Order: sequence, then structure tokens, then C-alpha cells
Amino acid sequence: MCGIVGYIGNNDSKEILLKGLEKLEYRGYDSAGIAVANGEGVHVFKEKGRIAELRKAVDADVFAATGIGHTRWATHGVPSRENSHPHQSQSGRLTLVHNGVIENYDILKREYLQNVPFKSETDTEVIVQLVELFVNEGNTVEEAFRRTLSLLHGSYALALIDDKDPDTIYVAKNKSPLLVGLGKEFNVVASDAMAMLQVTNEYVELMDKEMVIVTKEKVTIKNLDGEIVDRGSYIAELDASDIEKGTYPHYMLKEIDEQPLVMRKIIQNYQGGEGALEIDSDIVAAMKQADRIYIIAAGTSYHAGLVGKQFIERMAKLPVEVHISSEFGYNMPLLSEKPLFIFISQSGETADSRQVLVQVKEMGHPALTITNVPGSTLSREADFTLLLHAGPEIAVASTKAYTAQLAVLAILAEVTAKSRGFDVEFDLVKELGIVASAMESLTDSKEAFEDIAREYLTVTRNCFFIGRGIDFYVGLEGALKLKEISYIQAEGFAGGELKHGTIALIEEGTPVIALATQDYVNLSIRGNVKEVAARGAYPCIISMKGLETDGDRFVLPEVHHLLTPLISVIPLQLISYYAALHRDCDVDKPRNLAKSVTVE
Ligand code: M6R
Repeated sequence: MCGIVGYIGNNDSKEILLKGLEKLEYRGYDSAGIAVANGEGVHVFKEKGRIAELRKAVDADVFAATGIGHTRWATHGVPSRENSHPHQSQSGRLTLVHNGVIENYDILKREYLQNVPFKSETDTEVIVQLVELFVNEGNTVEEAFRRTLSLLHGSYALALIDDKDPDTIYVAKNKSPLLVGLGKEFNVVASDAMAMLQVTNEYVELMDKEMVIVTKEKVTIKNLDGEIVDRGSYIAELDASDIEKGTYPHYMLKEIDEQPLVMRKIIQNYQGGEGALEIDSDIVAAMKQADRIYIIAAGTSYHAGLVGKQFIERMAKLPVEVHISSEFGYNMPLLSEKPLFIFISQSGETADSRQVLVQVKEMGHPALTITNVPGSTLSREADFTLLLHAGPEIAVASTKAYTAQLAVLAILAEVTAKSRGFDVEFDLVKELGIVASAMESLTDSKEAFEDIAREYLTVTRNCFFIGRGIDFYVGLEGALKLKEISYIQAEGFAGGELKHGTIALIEEGTPVIALATQDYVNLSIRGNVKEVAARGAYPCIISMKGLETDGDRFVLPEVHHLLTPLISVIPLQLISYYAALHRDCDVDKPRNLAKSVTVE
């Protein structure tokens, strides 16, 4: 979702900004723009569509050592050149980029800016017009910016430049992510470290309701009262090659292939000296103290939570509820006496989940975040963090983060079980090793999944995924994967629920992908397949070795029955990938979607 970059130094900023924006493309966007200042004016270049379009619009002859850039994911106003950022104040003196949503922009507009002609439909333009209004009242830009910030309700990451002072970028944040990167005789601003890894790996975190004055020599953080805040920097442990596609045509395919490696990394990272799985003793204590776990997450992470509930309940015998984060806030269940909240989020920035975390912390409950991004908002604000160690996930469709989430949840369940005095009847380290090898054999079988995609999904307008027990949860994830990147309407259903309504949707040739990895429901799910086939469906059964029957389309290598979701999802990821590819869809950047959903 919207991304911000900024550069101030001695070099021409245009290429640095454009390269930075390209690194933020994965977040999802529909227009992009940059504004550069050089003392002779501010030059704004913006275009609807991809950064490639913006590149064409940028005047190569302008040299400017200060600049800000933005990728926009439309919220207020359609994707268009007019609504894309940067936005300028009425006189053109101030130029601003914004990530987030200003909830009271209409009130502010009516209260302060009745006489100002607006050029866009965005909430953002209100901010830059307000700053100019306060400057015109005699304030410095810093004072005017601070006064404006104190009026804003909602989420924002902002970068502002002043035509009259090209040696400063004003930055602020609330709820939306933003970092300042440090260099020698230059400094940068970025929504995430990946964007500016090209010039620095040293960053300073910003907290909500802080503003920063960035010059090429200095970074000064202040709170909204104008008091200076001291904060050290950190080195972003990212390798530039982690965020390159290499020889892969798409990040999604690369990330699917990385899953066996991620499994091994997770085992390494969570294995103690004696070889047993270990997690931070404070987390173990919190799990031990809890009488009920509440898992909060969105999208794929929510689907991981559904499987995680099975792990924790079956291994550690601790009751778990799983909630969609956007629903939880106003639909809160009656909480137990000693709840522990677990937030699952690849990005650690999902605004819906963050809003629940804020609520939960206000209520005084402990919270653990399971995330792929150290230092992310959900990680910083929770009491505890467990990392996924999956490496940057760039494709909008989450793949390796899902299986990493499952592995970390399994480890959490196992360690908790032992701490609660329950025996776990299998060796999880060994079983995760078997999972890693099984994953490898699946990623080596791409042709089989490409064939399934071609045969079942080339012309269809819909597709159903069915399963029972944990296979149902994996089916939900398979359906999400397929719909988000191929735009085929795909839904996951519990096998037994079909006859209660969904079966009415089955027509001649409707593809139904059925998972059969669990012995105790193998016959029942096959019965459901027969029901849909009798009504014209075109079934594709993916079964587990040992449970297969004639006619199954693919047989998965055997893994422990509780861990099957870690491997049964891989065919579904690959089938979705090839379906999207065959339909000429933009696999890594599907329409309307953002990687990191930073608005509620
Ligand atoms: O970063 P998060 O895990 O919190 O993101 C949650 C969802 O937005 C995310 O899983 C989304 O559903 C993916 N596009 C699914 O592939």
C-alpha cells in the first residue's frame, strides 16, 4: 500500500527516488510521482499507472539533490494523475507525499480551507493546504507542519518539501510505517528499508506522533511539543540479493521455491544447543499463564491462524480462538480471565491487526506477534515477538510466509505443550526436516501443477476448494491464492457443508479441487467429491501418500498428519501461479491489491 521515499544529499535525487519506488512496487499501487527541489523551483512529475510510465515523464535535464517520491494505492479519489502524489499547496511553495488516511479531512477542509481551490479528491491535499495556511499566518514551515499534525486524525506517513528551503525534508508519522536512513553527506526517507538499501542499510525508527527534520547532514527527531527525541540507529539485516528476482520470472515463484530453505532456517533458529526446540522463556511463561489464546490476523495469516489453533489445541491442550482482525474491534468476544493475544502478520504492519493490538494493550492484556519483519510496528508494540526467518516476501500473494507461520506456530505449540507437562508424541525437528524434503519434491514437480492449471483453470470463471478438518483451512488459503492473482472466483468450503447450499453453484465442468490428507476424513471427503461429480463438477483430488485411490490427480509425499498443511498448500500455490500466468495476469502485482495493508 502507498510507499514513500525521500533523498537529500549532493547527488541527483531523481534516479535514487525512482529506484526506491521500484523497490516499493511490491506493496501495490496504481500511480506514482516524484517532486525534486534545487533552489530554482520544485519540479513535480507524476503519472497514473506503473513507475515505467513515470520514468518516461521525468525530465532528465533537471538536476536536484532533494526529492520525495510516492506510490499511491487509491483510497480517496480514483487512480488518476490529479489524485496521485505529490500534492502541492495553493501557491506551489509546499509539496507533500502521504501514506495513510486522514479521517477528519472533510471537517478540516470546511473549518479552515473554505476558500482554497482543491485540485484533487484526496484527503492528502488538505494537509499541504493547511501547512501553507499556517505559514501564511506567520509560522515557520516547521511550526506550521507541527500545528497541522496536531489537527490530523487518522494514519499518516508524510514527507514535505519547501520550495524556499530545498535543504530540508520534513517528515512525520502516525500509525503508518516510515523510516529515516542515514548516509555520509546524505539522508533518506523510506516506508521500508528495502527501498533505500541501494544507498544505505543504517536506519532510525520513527514512533507515532513524531516529526523529523532531515537535512543532508542531520536528522532531528521531535515530538509534537517540539522537544528533541534521542534515538540510535540500527543496521537493517537485509541482503540486497534477497530482494532481487535473480533468474526467476516472478517473485512469487522464487518465494514458493524458497520454502524448503525457510523450513531449515526456522529449525536452525529455534533449535537450542541440545538440539531441542526452544523459544524465549518469557513467551513460554506467558503461554503457560494463559487460560485461552486469541489469534488475530488477516488474509493468509488468518488462514495460518486456523491451522495454528489445531497445533496449539492438539499439542498443548490450550483453547484457542482465531479472529479476523478487521472484525475483532467491534465484535469482541467475551474474553477469558487470562487471555494471551497472538498477532500473526507477515509484514507486521497490517493496520486492522494493529488497531486490535492497541485495544488489547489498553485493556492490559499480553500480546505476542509472529512476524517476518523485525522492528515492524506489530513487533515493536507487542510484548513479545517470534520471527519467521522467511526473508523478504515481495510478491503480493503470500506463500513462504504462510508455511513459515505454520512452522513457527507448530514450534510454539510443541514448546508450550512440554512446558505444560504434555508429551508430544513425535519429534518436531525431525518431522519439519521431512516437511522440508517433501516441499523440495513438490517444488521439483512444477510441470504437474502447470498441467493441472492448464487443464482445469484456463477457461473457467470459478473454482471451488474442498476439504475437511485442516484440509478445509488449507482449501481456504488455496482459494485466496487463486482468486487474488488469477481473478478466477475461487472459494474454499468444508466438504460437509456443500450440500447445505454451495452445491447449487456446481455446473457442468466446474473445477473442484479436493484435499484428502487426513485418514479420519478420507472417506467422507471422497463422498463429497462424488456428490459434486454427480452434478457435473470436474474434480481434482490431491491426496496424501497412503490415502490415495485410483484417479487421484496428485499424491503428496507423506509427512506427519498434523503437518500436512505445510505441504498440501504448495500444489495450490503453484496451481494458482500457473493459472494466473496462463491468463496473462500480473502475478506479483495483482490488480487492486497491496502487499502491506496499512489502512483500516
Ligand atoms: O502482512 P500480513 O500478514 O498482516 O497481511 C495480511 C494479509 O493482507 C495478507 O495475508 C494477504 O491476504 C495476502 N495478499 C494473501 O496472499
